Amino acid sequence: AEKWVLMVTAQTPTNIAVIKYWGKRDENLILPINDSISVTLDPQHLCTTTSVAVSPTFTHDRMWLNGKEISLSGGRYQNCLRELRARASDVEDEEKGIKITKKDWEKLHLHIASYNNFPTAAGLASSAAGFACLVFSLAKLMNVKEDHSKLSAIARQGSGSACRSLYGGFVKWIMGKEENGSDSIAVQLADEKHWDDLVIIIAVVSSRQKETSSTSGMRETVETSMLIEHRAKEVVPRRIIQMEKAIKDLDFPSFARLTCSDSNQFHAVCLDTSPPIFYMNDTSHRIISCVEKWNRFEGTPQVAYTFDAGPNAVLIARNRKAAALLLQRLLFYFPPQSDTDLNSYVIGDKSILQ
Ligand code: PMV
Repeated sequence: AEKWVLMVTAQTPTNIAVIKYWGKRDENLILPINDSISVTLDPQHLCTTTSVAVSPTFTHDRMWLNGKEISLSGGRYQNCLRELRARASDVEDEEKGIKITKKDWEKLHLHIASYNNFPTAAGLASSAAGFACLVFSLAKLMNVKEDHSKLSAIARQGSGSACRSLYGGFVKWIMGKEENGSDSIAVQLADEKHWDDLVIIIAVVSSRQKETSSTSGMRETVETSMLIEHRAKEVVPRRIIQMEKAIKDLDFPSFARLTCSDSNQFHAVCLDTSPPIFYMNDTSHRIISCVEKWNRFEGTPQVAYTFDAGPNAVLIARNRKAAALLLQRLLFYFPPQSDTDLNSYVIGDKSILQ
């Protein structure tokens, strides 16, 4: 048999929602019940690097995550691989004498190696960067001729929030109307240079894996919460419009108010779920109080906070000066036990960044 290997490597940062996605209307295709908006982080800090390779010597599709082999049999991986194989085109590498036709991709097998430069289990949206990077690198390898928005609809089928990591800057995931999900895609609202005063600090409260996965949490909320429908139908559509305007106008007070309120409402619908879901802990609550008090004292918001499906705080400071003051406050109220820098402040859990 031929012995060649063709490989592509790509890097994708994670993203943090400032208007949250919570609740699916279709679990298989991963279609949400509301639009969401996120900010994509600087790739230096929280990102996934994925290398994908194809060779006629590979006997089946295989994947390694942080050096450990994982199964690709789950529906989410299979959906992404199927969608990409269906869109693959001819690939030619004259130097190596490789020629792969569109039809060959159905039979050729892939090897995928993915690394996170941050702790996978820490509930820091690792799946967002992971699936976005998987889809992006495979699309390159397989010469898939689709734009980022079309690729976002494929990444969405791996993990909902992954669709927003195909773009930098501020990104909106449009929920879409179609039953087949073709219009449930991500679009860029503003690029990474648009609001470069902002500084994002992640306060890692605990590196333990979350108790309720986002998939089961969303399902339970949609099935049992009486508040979720009000949130999805009445609140989020208005906030999306206001948030888009705040981002466009670089209006930090509105941005901070919307970000904090939306995080709090997301955790409120979790509490309204039966049985209730607690993602934040006492330390998370103390961080919220600390930021709220400081913002009120200053008269205008200096920092916004947002929490995903875990206790870790994502703090967005209006500029470097506010970020430096925030770090001082965090150091004072939550003395660190580990090396810290401006972008990865660690509270209480030393194991995480070693
Ligand atoms: O894409 P998932 O299944 O990991 O869900 C993400 C849900 C939140 O992080 C809580 C909110 C969001 O919009 O990212």
